[in-house]
Amino acid sequence: MVPPTNRLKFPMSTLAGKIAVISGGTTGIGLATAQRFVAEGAHVFIFGRRQAQLDEAAKLIGRNVTAIQADAANLDDLDRVAAAVKAEKGVVDIIVSNAGYTEQASIDTLTPEHFDKAFNLMARGPVFLVQKLLPLMTGSGSIILVSSAMHIMGIPGHTAYAATKAALRSYARTWAAEFKDRGIRVNMLSPGVTDTPILDAQSAPREDLVSMYQGMVPIGRLARAEEIANAALFLASDQSSYVTGSDLMADGGIGQV
Ligand SMILES: NC(=O)c1ccc[n+]([C@@H]2O[C@H](COP(=O)([O-])OP(=O)(O)OC[C@H]3O[C@@H](n4cnc5c(N)ncnc54)[C@H](OP(=O)(O)O)[C@@H]3O)[C@@H](O)[C@H]2O)c1
Repeated sequence: MVPPTNRLKFPMSTLAGKIAVISGGTTGIGLATAQRFVAEGAHVFIFGRRQAQLDEAAKLIGRNVTAIQADAANLDDLDRVAAAVKAEKGVVDIIVSNAGYTEQASIDTLTPEHFDKAFNLMARGPVFLVQKLLPLMTGSGSIILVSSAMHIMGIPGHTAYAATKAALRSYARTWAAEFKDRGIRVNMLSPGVTDTPILDAQSAPREDLVSMYQGMVPIGRLARAEEIANAALFLASDQSSYVTGSDLMADGGIGQV
């Protein structure tokens, strides 16, 4: 047995001095991730569209936070976010592409507008978020693409949503290879059903969704946003220093059975 004093020591503040940018960092998984990153020593830039939620999130995070009103589907807004990060900190160590929403539509009812809205935010948006922040990225950077267990599942009504999340799987592989000589790691994080405000904006009532999904999850309950933030922290920190191009499924097993 290794004597306790010789065991690997992890720093008390895993992200001490790191700069992170989190799209959609105002509620749910993004907010929990921002709170966790700050608790671990990072400064976070969060952005979203609603000013009231930005103000509330900045208050909850409490310190080491810059909140910017910006739409992750709008390329001019992404330029503004990158300019703000450059002006305030000059560099970025961690990008969490997290902004998202769900709207269900069967293939019979799906409209071009429904499809384009989903793809503009959740498939096109992450590409340009990363492109615009890349010049500021440090040599030991970590990019986290928040996907969903749904990218490997077949759940009716999710043609566009699930496909945007599947696109991220491809980005993680391509960019892991493309950034090989830059020291930047890229991974996807696939949450299972998580108790966040996203569940209030579905075609079925929240209680029906919760009981349906609970029955499908081996762990027997929905995830808490803090549990997904734990997985994000692992991917953001040096504790995942040998992990790139991967898909970390924090899904309670829903996508595994
Ligand atoms: N909760 C789940 O069960 C679950 C499961 C798997 C994957 N996910 C994924 O996890 C991510 C976070 O979801 P959540 O559950 O935490 O939902 P949430 O609580 O509704 O949070 C969504 C966040 O995204 C932001 N956002 C939405 N559209 C945006 C836009 N156009 N530009 C900038 N920000 C935007 C929202 O702020 P504004 O509305 O103010 O812009 C909010 O901060 C999403 O990508 C979602 O697909 C969630």
